[in-house]
Amino acid sequence: MADMSLFTSIPFLKNRRRIPRQIISDSWADRDKILNNDVNLFCWKRPVNPEIQDFLAQLIDHQPAPISFRASVQNLRQQIDHTKQPWYLETFGDGFHAFWADIELLAGDFIAFSQTGQGTVHLKMVTDDACAKFHIDAYKLRLFTTYNGKGTEWIPEIVTNRRSLGRTNDLIVKDPSQIQRMESFEVGILKGEPHGGNMNVKGIVHRSPEISSTGANRIILRIDI
Ligand SMILES: [Fe+2]
Repeated sequence: MADMSLFTSIPFLKNRRRIPRQIISDSWADRDKILNNDVNLFCWKRPVNPEIQDFLAQLIDHQPAPISFRASVQNLRQQIDHTKQPWYLETFGDGFHAFWADIELLAGDFIAFSQTGQGTVHLKMVTDDACAKFHIDAYKLRLFTTYNGKGTEWIPEIVTNRRSLGRTNDLIVKDPSQIQRMESFEVGILKGEPHGGNMNVKGIVHRSPEISSTGANRIILRIDI
C-alpha cells in the first residue's frame, strides 16, 4: 500500500484551519514561532525594567502626546531620532535611553517579519478602555507591549466562542476565569485576520483591559506590519 497519510489523502482536511496555539516563552529568540501556521499568539514573558519604569513614572505626569511613525529596519533609528522628542526631558536621564533602546530592539526585530520591509510604530498613553470588547485584529501581525499598567487580555481557544464575535463579551468568553492578561513589559505578537487575506490560522481573540473606572493609565507600544 502506498505511503499516504490521512492528511494528504483527504482534500478537505488540507484546507481546514488548525486549532490555534499560543506560545508563551521567556526568550525573545522564540519570536519566529508566531510564523508557524497553527500559532496565533507569541508572548515574551520578561521582567519589568526598573530603570524604564522610573522614567515612565515621571513621564506620565507630563502627559506626552501620542507618537506614530512608519519605519523600515534600515531607517528605524533615524525615524526614532526624528520623532521621540515629545517623550523626552533632559532630567529623565538613563531611563529615557533604555526606553528608546528597548523600542528600537523590539521594532527592528518585529519589522523584520514584514513582507513590505516596513511597519508603523505607535506609542501612546491611554486612560480609557480602548477596545474593551473581545475581537480579532484585521492586521496580519501586531506587536503590543504595555510598559505601564495592565497588559492586553486574550482567551485560549477552548473558551472562545467565535460565533459570538461582534456580540457581548459574556457570549464570546465561555469561561471568564480563563481570561489571560499580559503583565507590564511583556511583549505580545498577535496574529489577526486581514480583510481579504488568506490566513492559515484563526486570529487571536483579545481586548484592552478595563481601566477607565479605576483612574489608572497605560503606556502602550503598538507596531503594525
Ligand atoms: Fe485589537
